[in-house]
Amino acid sequence: REKQDGRTSKQRLLVVANRLPVSAVRQGEDSWQLEISVGGLVSALLGVKEFEARWIGWAGVNVPDDVGKRALTKALAEKRCIPVFLDEEIVHQYYNGYCNNILWPLFHYLGLPQEDRLATTRSFQSQFDAYKKANQMFADVVNKHYEDGDVVWCHDYHLMFLPQCLKEYNSKMKVGWFLHTPFPSSEIHRTLPSRSELLRSVLAADLVGFHTYDYARHFESACTRILGLEGTPEGVEDQGKLTRVAAFPIGIDSDRFIGALELPQVQDHIRELKQRFAGRKVMLGVDRLDMIKGIPQKILAFEKFLEENPNWRDKVVLLQIAVPTRTDVPEYQKLTSQVHEIVGRINGRFGTLTAVPLHHLDRSLDFYALCALYAVTDVALVTSLRDGMNLVSYEFVACQAYKKGVLILSEFAGAAQSLGAGALLVNPWNVIEVAASIGYALNMPANEREKRHHHNFMYVTTHTSQEWAATFVSELNDTIVEAQLRTRQ
Ligand code: G6P
Repeated sequence: REKQDGRTSKQRLLVVANRLPVSAVRQGEDSWQLEISVGGLVSALLGVKEFEARWIGWAGVNVPDDVGKRALTKALAEKRCIPVFLDEEIVHQYYNGYCNNILWPLFHYLGLPQEDRLATTRSFQSQFDAYKKANQMFADVVNKHYEDGDVVWCHDYHLMFLPQCLKEYNSKMKVGWFLHTPFPSSEIHRTLPSRSELLRSVLAADLVGFHTYDYARHFESACTRILGLEGTPEGVEDQGKLTRVAAFPIGIDSDRFIGALELPQVQDHIRELKQRFAGRKVMLGVDRLDMIKGIPQKILAFEKFLEENPNWRDKVVLLQIAVPTRTDVPEYQKLTSQVHEIVGRINGRFGTLTAVPLHHLDRSLDFYALCALYAVTDVALVTSLRDGMNLVSYEFVACQAYKKGVLILSEFAGAAQSLGAGALLVNPWNVIEVAASIGYALNMPANEREKRHHHNFMYVTTHTSQEWAATFVSELNDTIVEAQLRTRQ
């Protein structure tokens, strides 16, 4: 891009996601305290120097008054963030309802909620209406801030209706959409009452991205079977218009994790943890407390392992960090009580007056404490029932340069396709198999651990989040140039 004064400026990237990468806490009528949360997407985009990214999304708080809205908008602008204000009713129907009670479980093969199985039920329809309304509200904000030449990158299952809304505003807008969850088999997707509308809207984008080839293939076959469209190696074609569909496996900012290990505050944590668990092998689980993460199945497998291996009972500890999430959705509340019940039983059975085998924490840890935990772990358990990618597995590998611990990884996580050769792959539903893998991992000879770790470490440090973001955006730019050339021919 050439500016009028001859200076070249960077291409602007409008990143649209349900949630902004900040947590906002109101301090007074017109003041807000903001904290940036450095998740995968933020670090990915910080590392891409060719673009100037701006974020558009929900700030995660209800702001009923205009004074509050204006003050928050101003504060966010300093962080290059632009808010979409959603009221409580919309959040309830769109976020808790359609996104997290319908699409999220369905895309992770957990099916539709029973009472919503019929498209005619009021709640399904009203939640879908709220979903479309919310997506339209995101589109309004994007449209207001869009300038010619910008690239708009929409993220995740919350915003499947957005590409169509955007193209209705401006058919020339460059629109990409990326799904962070699995896209399920077309046999699953076709149970969704609004299956066709969502597919059609996503196809309005210029480029559609997934973490793995399997998800891209499932999406294409859903378009063929449900919409009768032709899938080609490049994407999906509808009346001469090609929507490019491809796999872009996300990564992490591995340098940030590796670098953190040298920091004094991380070293202090490491020392404390080593003292606390001296003489015991440390096993670790880090998950959001979500049904897709398979936490009950994981701790049942640990129970089975302790049951069958009495000699290990006082020599191993499992630390399970379960970060509360979507706490207004009833399924998540049920899961919390279920997990607490199993944890209590296991510690009751195998604990002693001075030690318990399972530490379960219902909260998140700060970045430094987390890095230290990863570093002292002997065996990490990532046993999601389904997972788009799962970056905990990558973070663990990045922090294991010295220890070279073992990763037990679900074959149903996207990460199994990249870290499969180094990890011990398991079927998380098979408690007996996972228990046996725990035993194998704890007894694994050093040379096998080193070989497996080396494989995964090389992958994680070369397939980074920065590379992922840069590849997606440059592919989106190329897709548009190719489409222009095709129409000129
Ligand atoms: C998954 C989704 C993200 C979402 C995150 C946290 O990783 O793919 O889009 O932001 O979970 O969930 P939450 O509902 O708290 O935003």
